[in-house]
Amino acid sequence: MKPANMNDRFLRACRREPVDRTPIWMMRQAGRYMSEYRALRAKHSMLTLCKSPELACQVTLQPIVHGVDAAILFADILLPLEPMGAPFEFAKGEGPVVHEPVTDRAGVDRLRIFEAEEGLGYVLDAIKLVRKELNGKVPLIGFAGAPFTLASYLIEGGKSAHYIKTKKMMYGDPAAWKLLMEKLSEVTRRYLRAQITAGAQAVQLFDSWIGQLSPLDYAEFVLPHVQYILKDIETTGVPVIHFGTGTSTLLQLQKQAGGTVIGVDWRMSLTDAAKLVPGVALQGNLDPLLLFAPQDVMKKRAAIVIDEGKQLPGHIFNLGHGILPETPVENVKALVDFVHEYSAR
Ligand code: CP3
Repeated sequence: MKPANMNDRFLRACRREPVDRTPIWMMRQAGRYMSEYRALRAKHSMLTLCKSPELACQVTLQPIVHGVDAAILFADILLPLEPMGAPFEFAKGEGPVVHEPVTDRAGVDRLRIFEAEEGLGYVLDAIKLVRKELNGKVPLIGFAGAPFTLASYLIEGGKSAHYIKTKKMMYGDPAAWKLLMEKLSEVTRRYLRAQITAGAQAVQLFDSWIGQLSPLDYAEFVLPHVQYILKDIETTGVPVIHFGTGTSTLLQLQKQAGGTVIGVDWRMSLTDAAKLVPGVALQGNLDPLLLFAPQDVMKKRAAIVIDEGKQLPGHIFNLGHGILPETPVENVKALVDFVHEYSAR
């Protein structure tokens, strides 16, 4: 039963049902562009925030004041690496650092598959807490990293420009690669299912760096594993957003792998994306840098995205990728208001 006060336009758009206004939320909406977040981070590390359900809940709720139509759980795609046996930290100025990167078959063999309730119970507790605090105000989105994107951090040990070590394993030891992808897929499948059981009302699979692959390599080395996850999650009936960047040549394969909604970055128009993947709801796709433009410029470009979205079976307004830490917070608020006003049916 839907609570009387629930704003469900995000879930309706995922299901391709009519909406009164285009729903909007923003990837990375909980984070450093908000002074409330920076104040908490001055006292606690990123991992402490993730591992304390009360703090994670607090951060998840911070961006709701902007009027967004969904909350995304505050966590990180890399959290499953630790219970798999690959601890990491967020080093200042460097991003994530995996202490002992996995570079060969022996390293892959050592990785553990775990139950989310045991390894990531703190995330599930945070979900339960957020649902209670939101009390139906807006739906809660859970998420996980997709196997390729997770593998790239595991193998490279952090961020990467050319993914040399990742592709060396993919091409040079396809059996080790396959085992790695199978382990990551099973962990991710169980983790997403557990998030849904805990109360996530939609989930997003982040394959952020998949645009590094040719369609041929995506089809051979990645698609079957993503499909294994998504076909199972789809049976729950909970909407799944399948997101990547640099995907204009991969969208059809991504859709084949699965997803109720396909995330589109800003490098192609929603109209062109819909020609490649007709019949599915799309999420996107304003360039996050437009939040640094004068507001009238930002609004003109947002209007184009909204108009294109209205021609689709379902559209969720979002940025083409995560919001940047330097983003002026007043522009976030202005964008949310504009999307709701301009898109009113
Ligand atoms: O979207 C949200 O508001 C929910 C929280 C969330 C975070 N990370 C919080 C975070 C989500 C959904 C993510 C996903 C994530 N994490 C991705 C995929 C999304 C994307 O943008 O493509 C990736 C690739 C990661 C890995 C990761 N985590 C990196 C590369 C970094 C450092 C990069 C940077 O911007 O410094 C993180 C750290 C991180 N994750 C922060 C936040 C708020 C910054 C931590 C801090 O406060 O210092």
